[in-house]
Amino acid sequence: MISLERVSKTYGTGPRAVQALSDIDLQVPKGTIHGVIGLSGAGKSTLIRCVNLLERPTTGRVIVDGAELTAMSASDLRQARHQCGMIFQHFNLLTNRTVFDNVALPLELMRESRRTIRERVMPLLEMTGLTDKRHQYPAQLSGGQKQRVAIARALASRPKVLLCDEATSALDPQTTTSILALLQEINQQLGLTILLITHEMEVVKSICHRVGLISGGRLVEEADVGDFFTAPGTQLGREFLNDFLKLEAPRELVERLDAESGQNSHPVVRLTFSGDSVSTPLISRLAREHGVDVSILQAKVESIQGRTLGLMIAELIGSETQTRQALATLKSFDLHVEVLGHVQRTD
Ligand SMILES: Nc1ncnc2c1ncn2[C@@H]1O[C@H](COP(=O)(O)OP(=O)(O)OP(=O)(O)O)[C@@H](O)[C@H]1O
Ligand SMILES: [Mg+2]
Repeated sequence: MISLERVSKTYGTGPRAVQALSDIDLQVPKGTIHGVIGLSGAGKSTLIRCVNLLERPTTGRVIVDGAELTAMSASDLRQARHQCGMIFQHFNLLTNRTVFDNVALPLELMRESRRTIRERVMPLLEMTGLTDKRHQYPAQLSGGQKQRVAIARALASRPKVLLCDEATSALDPQTTTSILALLQEINQQLGLTILLITHEMEVVKSICHRVGLISGGRLVEEADVGDFFTAPGTQLGREFLNDFLKLEAPRELVERLDAESGQNSHPVVRLTFSGDSVSTPLISRLAREHGVDVSILQAKVESIQGRTLGLMIAELIGSETQTRQALATLKSFDLHVEVLGHVQRTD
């Protein structure tokens, strides 16, 4: 439904030029919710604004629903933009218009009749839970309600694609959950394709099917959400995941960690289990087959897109040979093993 081919964007020229996007290839199939996550300044807003040509890419092609936007005349592009609804972090509502009139605005611009406008706007207000707010002004609404108005407005022209630029970043966690639930409902009921950008893993975890990771204007990693959360392919992906899971070794242990192994030290490992390995009785096997005791320091289980993800930080206690063999056994399973360091034995 959305296809970006080798899209690059440079702001400005000469020595002050900023290369915001480099060679982005991105495919978003019809009916899916695709997230793009990245740190501040990574190029997320530029990327999403290039999809409806609010920013024109410096090079590359943008294709939405089979039509190449980057090759269109200005008037064709105005028409084609109706296929792309967009919502923003700060809602961008018109303060001097009521809720109804904000939602009606795109239809007025399309010169629809008053009757058509009413017929379209009322069901959208119903869907977004705003029917009884239709005569109110944005200043009278909460952040969540304002974003609902923005969503209804974005859907007024019956787009095939909804672009969301940090749509929940200005909202509290509970309101975020309700807005994400609404986006998911819209995706499922209307079959709308959603491209959303965010810096929050929680948003990706809650509703996205696939996710891309952007850094320095490049798409450095792309995966199904279940795969991304179980085994990110890049260091930045692992940092996002660790930050989200907040599973860190206790500070007093980290201070004692040594990068090198030694005669009298034990490895401390972070294990990420997914799929079948969650239920494998690994720990008893390490004890039985290698004589290694496992001291669990922290553990957590998450369910992501129907898949179970387990995490554990543990100390492997045994001789150097025993723990080396135990690590080899662990690595032969379907799990991610990271040696955080070594601690001196205290026994
Ligand atoms: N209109 C502009 N003119 C010049 N440089 C710009 C412009 N817009 C963005 N940039 C630069 O392009 C880069 C990417 O910016 P962008 O706004 O796309 O990042 P972002 O990932 O959306 O960041 P944030 O999470 O803070 O919103 C940054 O270095 C930014 O300073
Ligand atoms: Mg941005």
